[in-house]
Amino acid sequence: MTESFRVMQIGFGSLGRHISSTILKRENLELVSVVDANPDLVGKSIKVLLQSEVASEISLTDDLKGALKNVPADVALVATSSSIKTVFPTIEACLESGLDVVSICEELSFPYQKSPSIAKNLDQIAKKYGKTVVGTGINPGYLMDLLPIVLTGPCQTVNTIHVTRHMNSSHRRPSFQKKIGTGMTKEEFRKNIDEGRITGHVGLVESIQMIDAALNLGLDEIEELPPEAIIAKKRVTNSFTTIGKGDVLGLKSVGVGRKNGMQIVTLDFQAYAEASPQYDEVIIDGIPKMHQRIEGGVQGDQGTIGMLLNLIPIVINEEPGLKTMKDLPVPRNTSRFWKEN
Ligand SMILES: NC(=O)c1ccc[n+]([C@@H]2O[C@H](COP(=O)([O-])OP(=O)(O)OC[C@H]3O[C@@H](n4cnc5c(N)ncnc54)[C@H](OP(=O)(O)O)[C@@H]3O)[C@@H](O)[C@H]2O)c1
Repeated sequence: MTESFRVMQIGFGSLGRHISSTILKRENLELVSVVDANPDLVGKSIKVLLQSEVASEISLTDDLKGALKNVPADVALVATSSSIKTVFPTIEACLESGLDVVSICEELSFPYQKSPSIAKNLDQIAKKYGKTVVGTGINPGYLMDLLPIVLTGPCQTVNTIHVTRHMNSSHRRPSFQKKIGTGMTKEEFRKNIDEGRITGHVGLVESIQMIDAALNLGLDEIEELPPEAIIAKKRVTNSFTTIGKGDVLGLKSVGVGRKNGMQIVTLDFQAYAEASPQYDEVIIDGIPKMHQRIEGGVQGDQGTIGMLLNLIPIVINEEPGLKTMKDLPVPRNTSRFWKEN
């Protein structure tokens, strides 16, 4: 008999609500509880919050411990924060309650260098309870790390890796447009970035660290350059805001990995309103040379949800511990995978 995977979802923000509605449409997944800290949402019906036709009797709760105790689930999806320190207690509680965990927390995608003690702790807790935890997403988690790693498969030698994402951020969720400074003046952008009030893109360093570890590159320096504002040459209006001429459309963030002063890995992330053309591109200089370009780019929010949900059967069948995307079986669409009894 086939059975669906029971999913607890934690985080019902800009992306979280799309995660819920996608789960509700996916036959091999059953949404059993939704947890979020936002007091405006607590107690409200998911069906009403999503304005959805899909049948769901779930009401949103802020009581994680209660949901873990009272509603049996196989896996927890965590979409609350980019900071590993912030998501740690949530993930710890889920592992201790016997759930596998998949999170889109960017810092969890490769946490060993920035947060070694949290990484060690998570690995130990996961092993103690026989469960698996992994950080994934579209980026970090796929386009700028796992994909270039896999593309080196046929290469006899690899000299340099250059990855570019060029995306029209007007198609992304509001929280994304906000964190890349859309609509701010140049001065506000700089101040907000400097004071950490907006993060810009998070994860370039983790992506380079994953590539370095996967290919044994032996990089001696990994650096993220300060994000640069991309400025509007004319007034632009999108569904998020109106951006005046001279104000900020979005940003360019570059991460580099060097060895003996040579730039080996370059990740060039550009996200701004009305960027055109959109594409994701990997160029590997080696033997043979590899040049792969996804025309139109991968829609980041859809791709993130796809990565997250597709990992559920993979993580449930994985050996216990903290894993990264380079450690897991080949990612794939798993919408036709069912729970084994
Ligand atoms: N890896 C990737 O490729 C990828 C892709 C997309 C997004 N992300 C990341 O995923 C995260 C979620 O994105 P988003 O746009 O949905 O963010 P968001 O709109 O800020 O939503 C986060 C939600 O989580 C809630 N929350 C915060 N801490 C919580 C906790 N401890 N327990 C329960 N709920 C909590 C927040 O409530 P309050 O508002 O009350 O705080 C908010 O409703 C972000 O950190 C984003 O950067 C990663």
